[in-house]
Amino acid sequence: MQEPDSALCSLLERKDEVLYNVKNQLGKKETQGRIEISKLSVIYQNKKVLQTALDTTDIILKPGTFASLIGPSGCGKSTLLNAVAGFVKPSEGGVVVDGRQVDEPDVSVGVIFQNFALFPWFSARGNVEFTLKRFGLSSSERRERAIEFLREVGLEEHQHKFPSQLSGGMKQRVAIARTLASDPDVLLMDEPFGALDAQTRLEMQELLMRLWQSRKKTVLFVTHDVDEALRLADIIFVMSTAPGRIIETINVDIARPRAVDRMDNQFIDYRSRILGLLRH
Ligand SMILES: Nc1ncnc2c1ncn2[C@@H]1O[C@H](COP(=O)(O)OP(=O)(O)OP(=O)(O)O)[C@@H](O)[C@H]1O
Ligand SMILES: [Mg+2]
Repeated sequence: MQEPDSALCSLLERKDEVLYNVKNQLGKKETQGRIEISKLSVIYQNKKVLQTALDTTDIILKPGTFASLIGPSGCGKSTLLNAVAGFVKPSEGGVVVDGRQVDEPDVSVGVIFQNFALFPWFSARGNVEFTLKRFGLSSSERRERAIEFLREVGLEEHQHKFPSQLSGGMKQRVAIARTLASDPDVLLMDEPFGALDAQTRLEMQELLMRLWQSRKKTVLFVTHDVDEALRLADIIFVMSTAPGRIIETINVDIARPRAVDRMDNQFIDYRSRILGLLRH
């Protein structure tokens, strides 16, 4: 049998890396990051009692949209996010991301949680590098990419610190760098700034806006904070409890960039409309 060509062998050995680089060179196509949620219901079973956490929900998000989910505690926001992430199986209906039926987690969908979920035994850089292992990059390529993303979130100088040596805002910056380094098309964020003080929260909102505008991911962002949703989102889905469903879809037609201290009539009108919906 003929010996395989050595160039082909080396290509096959490095296929993960090659695919990754090809994906990067292609850049962000406008078609990446489309989310289609159709007739999605999630029913949990607690002992013998069935509970509908999410009821027949439909959402379509175009690539690059920043969407926010807002609603009372227990209305199914995390359940919806977890179904898009592939952590929770739908009881009815389903989720399709860029034509792929979601039935398990996938690298094209990044998730950021309120509690940062960093590995305590890795440094900031180690946390980012670890996530990059799946792409088959060499260790020096992983290091360079990790530093690049830590620089982007303003943490290059703190790359050797461990999570216990970082503030809450810094930990969330590491989590964002780690997720963005994998170059997902969709970013799911579950109350990511909920544990931060008011000032740090505003700084993180500004950072997120900067990253979103430069990288144009599709973002689905859960928050309890109406002002936060209004500062960030193109579209806000307001949910109600038991069974969780979307009761109103609000297109936020406020010009960008939106100042953090914005409090004009347009902003106040949106805010009272959403607070009114949440009171019901
Ligand atoms: N794994 C689970 N098993 C059983 N019931 C669950 C599970 N996860 C969530 N639930 C229930 O489903 C409902 C929706 O929960 P979910 O966590 O999605 O709400 P949420 O809107 O994210 O709330 P919060 O704002 O407090 O985070 C709640 O009544 C909750 O008790
Ligand atoms: Mg939740």
